[in-house]
Amino acid sequence: MEDTREQAAQDVEAAAILGFDPSDPAFRADPYAHYRGLAAGGSLQRTAVGLWVSTSYELCEAALRDPRFGHRPENGGLWRDAPQRNRSFLTMDPPDHTRLRRLVSKAFTPRLVERLRPRVEELVDELLDAASGEVDLIAALAYPLPVIVISEMLGVPPRDRDLFKGWSDALARGLDPDFLLPEAEIALRDEARAEFAAYFRELAAERRADPRDDLLSALVGVSDGGDVLSEEELLATCVLLLVAGHETTVNLVGNGALALLRHPEQLALFRERPGNVAAAVEELLRYDPPVQLTLRAALEDVELGGTPIERGRLVLLLTGAANRDPSVFTDPDRLDLLRYSEGRDAPRHLSFGHGIHFCLGAPLARLEGQIALKKLFERDVALAAGDGDLAYRDNLVLRGLRDLPVRIG
Ligand code: HEM
Repeated sequence: MEDTREQAAQDVEAAAILGFDPSDPAFRADPYAHYRGLAAGGSLQRTAVGLWVSTSYELCEAALRDPRFGHRPENGGLWRDAPQRNRSFLTMDPPDHTRLRRLVSKAFTPRLVERLRPRVEELVDELLDAASGEVDLIAALAYPLPVIVISEMLGVPPRDRDLFKGWSDALARGLDPDFLLPEAEIALRDEARAEFAAYFRELAAERRADPRDDLLSALVGVSDGGDVLSEEELLATCVLLLVAGHETTVNLVGNGALALLRHPEQLALFRERPGNVAAAVEELLRYDPPVQLTLRAALEDVELGGTPIERGRLVLLLTGAANRDPSVFTDPDRLDLLRYSEGRDAPRHLSFGHGIHFCLGAPLARLEGQIALKKLFERDVALAAGDGDLAYRDNLVLRGLRDLPVRIG
């Protein structure tokens, strides 16, 4: 009872801050209808507590490429960020962001990622072969695939993978802004971060003594080579990669499969045109993105689309809404798997962000999403649950199903 009351109070607070209630089941089922309602009130709005919220493609894109918006914590008190030592480069500004991102970006170039194709294909076949009849597609394919891939890249032994599930759940919820999280969730997140870091500290020591051909050994080498990468930064980077690998691509496969199952004529097109799979996955990313929003702080007094924003104020960039901005996308609420085909000039979606923090793992996420969905729908697949039975996880930043019951023939 106490918990329910506390939760209810918190929902009211979140709604006041955001201008919409993220825990409302109707919002979870279709946030896009709510974004449309929000957009009707203006493309950039100030909420009661002084947080700015933007639904516009133009403004989200502009803020993401503007160096006057960033992460430094002078922010009007809304943003109690993790202590500096736990922060990854996802929430750093240049020059630290530039230095750290450069160190790992070499492992994620499209050319290097392409070399993982045979392994990803093999894994998808194995997972699908083990999944016939009625299964939860999240547990059977969408979750294990990216987890195994990123664990293998980093060099995490298979026996340790199960350890991560609980930590990773806590960290995924922890991606939501602190001002929306109960103290207990913040504590769980900080604990999970510490446990993850302790785990990697030990594994890094093993790789230092006995380097292998994996990303962790490479990072340890850089860290030992001078003052380019501190031990704390090394650990935060590993945690970032592992969480990104655990919590995002799962939702590309889950949300993407659901969108196709709900649109049989588009699914038929998907199957008929294997050459269009890459473009189809871009449209699935636009249509129901795994990451719905990001935040930036104004690092100085600045104007966004002509509106003055005071230094320190936070701007919530609803990229999930921007992807459906009718002033940019034709028929934005329609799933159109040919939208990104060659010769069609659709604007880029913002599902991987934009600017200096553009998703480092995008080539890997694309590869995994394309192979998983292509191979899945080479089989007979049908939804095994009514729409009312589908539940989403309690995250605001990440949008993903708890489970997705399907029948695979
Ligand atoms: C950053 C989305 C998969 C690693 C981001 C950002 C978005 C995003 C929106 C920018 C956040 C911001 O600007 O605040 C996604 C989606 C994915 C995905 C939708 C799957 C479909 C991955 C994977 C990895 C990864 C598989 C690596 C294993 C990263 C990293 C950053 C990042 C390291 C930080 C980049 C920086 O700050 O410079 N991602 N991501 N992501 N992503 Fe992803």
